[in-house]
Amino acid sequence: MKRIGKLRIIPIAAVDNEEDGLHVAEALQKAGLDIIEFTLRCPAAEPCIKRVLKAFPNMLVGAGTLLNVDHLQRAIDAGAKFGVAPGLNEVVMSKAFEMHLPFIPGVMTCSEISRAIAVGCKQLKFFPAEALGGVRLLQAISVPFEHTGVRFIPTGGITVENAAAYLDLPLVSAVAGTWIVPRDVVQLKNWNEITRLAMAALSL
Ligand code: 3PG
Repeated sequence: MKRIGKLRIIPIAAVDNEEDGLHVAEALQKAGLDIIEFTLRCPAAEPCIKRVLKAFPNMLVGAGTLLNVDHLQRAIDAGAKFGVAPGLNEVVMSKAFEMHLPFIPGVMTCSEISRAIAVGCKQLKFFPAEALGGVRLLQAISVPFEHTGVRFIPTGGITVENAAAYLDLPLVSAVAGTWIVPRDVVQLKNWNEITRLAMAALSL
């Protein structure tokens, strides 16, 4: 979690095979961004996690879209160093703690933030950030939680244009999204473009 707070950007990759996953990870590393989240909504996520960790042991590789305990177990078996979910599931959160996997649940309301804090989660995915109301909503919703130590990772609709405004908010530890690893760019195997997008993100 500390490393995520230092890097401040989590590129989310939805890729179709492990070769592409490896190229994407390499392209991110070239830019100096040694973190990646593979979403389990793509069947290649687990082989990608394993392969990237083997090739780049120092890369912080996480698993996203962990909707249930089975997904959580699969992420752990693949070697993921952190887990992310779009929503809040107490069973999954407790299991993640039990298995010592740093876990970032998704929230979109004050009630969900309270429930996440109640079980000890302090890094929360604010999702889907832009559709919910963007920086303005996050700023407003953060106020009652300022003293709790909670931190947000806005995700959903984040771009190079709007990321800086989120990163300026005191309770935002990082931003996440697919804009650094666009699916069409991966399909074209344009790895240099991914390095360029990662460098542009880091320059924020
Ligand atoms: C996710 O996988 O967490 C979201 O779909 C990311 O949203 P984005 O594609 O708008 O960045």
